[in-house]
Amino acid sequence: MKKIILAGGAGYLGRALAQHFLNDGFEVVTLSRKTFDALPGERIGLWDGKSLGPWTRELENTVALINLAGRTVNCRYTPTNRKEMMESRVQSTRVLGEAVRACTEPPKVWMNSSTATIYRHAIDCEQTEASGQIGKGFSVEIAKAWEQEFFRHRRDGVRQIALRTAMVFGQGRGGVYEAFCSIAKQGLGGRAGDGTQYVSWIHLDDFVGMIDWIIAHTELDGVVNVASPDPQPNAKFMRALRESLGVRFGLNATEWMLEIGAFFKKTETELLMKSRRVVPERMLGAGYKMKHPNLKHAMKDLAERNSYRQTQFPK
Ligand SMILES: NC(=O)c1ccc[n+]([C@@H]2O[C@H](COP(=O)([O-])OP(=O)(O)OC[C@H]3O[C@@H](n4cnc5c(N)ncnc54)[C@H](OP(=O)(O)O)[C@@H]3O)[C@@H](O)[C@H]2O)c1
Repeated sequence: MKKIILAGGAGYLGRALAQHFLNDGFEVVTLSRKTFDALPGERIGLWDGKSLGPWTRELENTVALINLAGRTVNCRYTPTNRKEMMESRVQSTRVLGEAVRACTEPPKVWMNSSTATIYRHAIDCEQTEASGQIGKGFSVEIAKAWEQEFFRHRRDGVRQIALRTAMVFGQGRGGVYEAFCSIAKQGLGGRAGDGTQYVSWIHLDDFVGMIDWIIAHTELDGVVNVASPDPQPNAKFMRALRESLGVRFGLNATEWMLEIGAFFKKTETELLMKSRRVVPERMLGAGYKMKHPNLKHAMKDLAERNSYRQTQFPK
């Protein structure tokens, strides 16, 4: 049976990938620091995200290793949280690299999470893999360290893809879509700041679709933007979200209001205020066909599929 390893796969994106690959007939092994309610047919491999152990044997003869491990960035950037955000990503990548090198038959492809936030605050032009410029600041430092660690572990015969992923909008609990819907439904889904900063996004169907496509297309290697080709300014983005939900009104938030809100919600305004105008030039150039290329259509699809026009989120 074809086998896939999802490191850090107990979270939001991991659950979507696990379900997808199980449906497709793969054996799925998810590396986690704890046991959790696995899906029927899924196996849990225990690891600590930083040291080698019996879990490393799971990597032998696998179709793909996909690393999703990392402490959430949706928190206040205190010194402790900064350390955890950085170490959870760099250490998990390092130990996977050591495990891949120790394999007799290593995974055919190793995909490692990265982020679309690695590019600079860009309003003026799109950021592609070839021409995009790397930004500055703490989130960028994490992304750079994450990718540097990843590409340090080259091994012949193992393709390596850094997934520079935009915010993934999909069904179910725990993702960014749920958070945005909740804000919009409280009447707070207006523009953030002056609303000119771009929002890069991708529908969960295309996140999964791109992962599938990368596995099948052995010519692809290196960094890949995992984003829709339709990033939009925050004001337009929020309007499309509100319209899809049937919410007429959205209070605009100035930057100081966002600072106060972020403080109480224990998060950072950077998540809303940084302009991310990232597009998937490599994937489109290589022939990937987006399932949801257009923002309005994607929002409509999500709202219909999730019944989010009603008051409750599905359990
Ligand atoms: N979701 C998005 O929109 C999005 C966008 C861009 C990039 N990304 C990146 O993609 C990855 C997966 O995203 P997600 O939304 O699925 O995140 P998530 O729901 O927060 O899941 C991340 C997983 O990382 C593991 N983890 C946390 N701290 C760890 C540590 N110290 N050592 C080892 N593992 C640790 C956790 O697994 P256990 O607790 O089970 O060990 C958790 O299930 C993350 O790295 C994220 O930064 C996500």
